[in-house]
Amino acid sequence: MSDAAVTVQRCGRCGHEIAESAATQRCPDCGGLLELRHPAPPGGGPALRALFDARGGLRRGSLSSGVWRYRELVLPTAGEDVLTFPEGNTPLLARPSVTAWAGASSLLLKHEGHNPTGSFKDRGMTVGATHARRLGATAVACASTGNTGASLAAYAALAGLPALVLVPRGKIALGKLTQLLAYGARTLAINGDFDTCLELALEASERLGVYLLNSINPFRLEGQKTIIFELLQQLGWDPPDWILVPAGNLGNTAAFGKALREAREWGLIGRVPRIAAVQAEGAAPFAWSFAEGFVRPHRVEAHTVATAISIGNPASYDRAVAAIRETNGYVTAVSDDDILEAKAVIDASGVGCEPASAASVAGARALIAQGVIGPQERLVAVLTGHILKDPEAVTRYHQGSSPHANPPIEIEPRLAEVEKVLTRR
Ligand code: F0G
Repeated sequence: MSDAAVTVQRCGRCGHEIAESAATQRCPDCGGLLELRHPAPPGGGPALRALFDARGGLRRGSLSSGVWRYRELVLPTAGEDVLTFPEGNTPLLARPSVTAWAGASSLLLKHEGHNPTGSFKDRGMTVGATHARRLGATAVACASTGNTGASLAAYAALAGLPALVLVPRGKIALGKLTQLLAYGARTLAINGDFDTCLELALEASERLGVYLLNSINPFRLEGQKTIIFELLQQLGWDPPDWILVPAGNLGNTAAFGKALREAREWGLIGRVPRIAAVQAEGAAPFAWSFAEGFVRPHRVEAHTVATAISIGNPASYDRAVAAIRETNGYVTAVSDDDILEAKAVIDASGVGCEPASAASVAGARALIAQGVIGPQERLVAVLTGHILKDPEAVTRYHQGSSPHANPPIEIEPRLAEVEKVLTRR
């Protein structure tokens, strides 16, 4: 991996290498997905850790970003002219009620909903948008279940570029749609699912010359690697046993695998944690493939309450297979009911997240119950998006009959009625 003298793009399928500046989304030889290969950063692990730790206290400038702090591992050629909010610097939270619900002894929540547009997508988008600008792109585009689009729209506004976002009509959460409109993206509501939107977006990028910023774009994944670098740094570079992540199009799973491979190779950590990718049962093609030993990818028609991960034909399949294999990882699927229960517990702890994010915690509970994860192992579950992304899921849940439901209580404006509520069990 560290044999490259300069950063190049390398095909994950056939190994063909092309220049970092080539504006293609796929290998020109075989059509495989590309990944960036950087030269080994100068200094060894201790020097790098010291460098990143020294930058930890910065408050201004691009190095105060939780992405660009690791610039030597992300995009060494970026120079000073990066498009940053800044982003990252998200908290690692311990909440005893969530840990207990999962049946774990040590569970930390890496809350990516604290990013500027409320999801982890900003970490990839700052790098993707920076690269789009240095390529001289005149417009940017993506297909999205909402979060990628919201992030793209915000960074396009920062760059002064027009943004085109293709979403499955009626299948994206209200908070995300609100952001798309507000940040000024041209929003195309497509009569189809996410997978259809992605196919159309790819065609548009090839035929209409707009620069595509979906997670098949290798520059996006470089930014998303920093979720891993940052959580390792927050743990004093002492890795957990497991990292659990909700999985849809598999960009994040792939980015996590690459980050861990590089962190090990470049001496940041001595031991690699295992990745657990968690899907929703109604959108679980990757979990099916895992159960069969990854003999082939599956394609399904996706249906889940977790609209962010309602994806039936994940684009980063090959890369994610490598991530699971290299980390001795695991892939599982959890039901919508389990996702909503995990979300209710996370929400009631005061932390809150969108439905897809809760899949990581639901996955922790399921894998501990199955004996795949030991109860004494140290876990980090990634919460990928903010609670306000999907307000309708919350109101629907609390009007229902679940034991966690907390519906509003209507009363007349009298103190006695307030007191009655206060003393009620
Ligand atoms: N969690 C949230 C909140 C997401 O928005 C997504 C993906 C995922 C998890 C899954 O990540 O695709 O890398 O496996 N959202 C994309 C979007 C598809 O368009 O916003 P993945």
